[in-house]
Amino acid sequence: MIETRAAVLRRAGTPGEPPPFDGFAVEDVLLSEPGPGEVLIDVAAACLCHSDLSVMTGHRPRPVPMVLGHEASGRVAAVGPGVTRFRPGDPVLMTYVPRCGRCRPCAEGRPALCEPGNAANVAGTLLTGRRPFRDGDGELHQHLGLSAFSHRTVVSEASLVRLPDDVPLVECALLGCAVVTGVGAVVNTARVEPGTSVVVFGLGGVGLCAVMGARLAGAATVIGVDPDLRKADLARELGADEVLPGGPDLVEELRERTGGGADYAFEAAGVPVAFEQAYAATRRGGTTVGIGLADPAARVPFSPADLVATERVVRGSYMGSTIPERDIPRYVELLRAGRLPLQRLVGERLTLEEVPGAMRRLHDGVVGRQLIEIGGAAA
Ligand SMILES: NC(=O)c1ccc[n+]([C@@H]2O[C@H](COP(=O)([O-])OP(=O)(O)OC[C@H]3O[C@@H](n4cnc5c(N)ncnc54)[C@H](O)[C@@H]3O)[C@@H](O)[C@H]2O)c1
Ligand SMILES: [Zn+2]
Ligand SMILES: [Zn+2]
Repeated sequence: MIETRAAVLRRAGTPGEPPPFDGFAVEDVLLSEPGPGEVLIDVAAACLCHSDLSVMTGHRPRPVPMVLGHEASGRVAAVGPGVTRFRPGDPVLMTYVPRCGRCRPCAEGRPALCEPGNAANVAGTLLTGRRPFRDGDGELHQHLGLSAFSHRTVVSEASLVRLPDDVPLVECALLGCAVVTGVGAVVNTARVEPGTSVVVFGLGGVGLCAVMGARLAGAATVIGVDPDLRKADLARELGADEVLPGGPDLVEELRERTGGGADYAFEAAGVPVAFEQAYAATRRGGTTVGIGLADPAARVPFSPADLVATERVVRGSYMGSTIPERDIPRYVELLRAGRLPLQRLVGERLTLEEVPGAMRRLHDGVVGRQLIEIGGAAA
């Protein structure tokens, strides 16, 4: 058994009620050695994502106790039996859907939809069904295969992508969720074309990455929407032409500013009304992409007749329809070229012990991503 400290969620809340912040703390826990196909990681850095908060609030129902954290980078500390692709010392990015490589979505080139991978994530286990974290009372659940809010973690090798040695390992943590999700929704799911208009609802870490992705894809107009106007400056810096706070005339305003409706609208707030507005803001033939993970009980009304007669498209985007082995090297090249300024996305730099307080601030609204330097560059 390996000793480590980790941020453990003991209690999940009920949607509509205050989140149980006092059920989330950094504790001493134990970790078993990596089994077959598994890898022990020294975590370099991990970021907070709204999906961690949604497990706490109960909007993403998951078994507890659970070690949270799913946007992270690190270094291989040891490999389990049969692992040949990774060696101790390798810098790696963790991805939040392990890929079996054999199920139908994997065979169709859609590994973000991997069936055994998603089943293991819902059950709170590794792909093998194992749960490597434990405390005096028993096993803890794994979050999205990773549980990266810990100095050390054990993950399936199918959750990892090797990073080159010359990129900043700490900032690369952001690639793990915000970038693959936000940029991927634009370039993979929607395939935004140059010269088009894009609206992004929600300017948290994921929405800001969609803004950056829209710029990279050559969109002519990029408009951000967020009621929290503290987010506007950073959104403009990362590529938004303007930022609107919402309000009763929002849809009209967006339609006017995009010459009759946006070509693409991305919902990255996880708020049903934003989804509705995103759809309404698109032009005839336009595409709405859902990224935000709203309360599973939420419903959005729309008119089938309108969908049909205007040939609008509504698509979901999970993990940015990412193929990690293809896309991560592309993002690394953009990072090297200075076209994916990950440092600019970082709003706060924290230690692992500060994670519970950071979760409260995420709930209240923070500008930029919260980066936890766990082992740092020396990991
Ligand atoms: N699809 C995926 O694979 C995937 C992956 C990661 C995260 N997510 C989801 O994406 C969403 C965003 O994640 P994040 O970490 O950036 O969250 P975040 O909390 O940092 O940002 C959400 C933003 O939405 C804004 N917002 C709230 N109501 C709004 C409204 N009506 N209109 C426009 N903006 C509004 C908030 O002010 C905030 O800035 C969450 O729902 C998260 O669970 C999905
Ligand atoms: Zn996430
Ligand atoms: Zn699969």
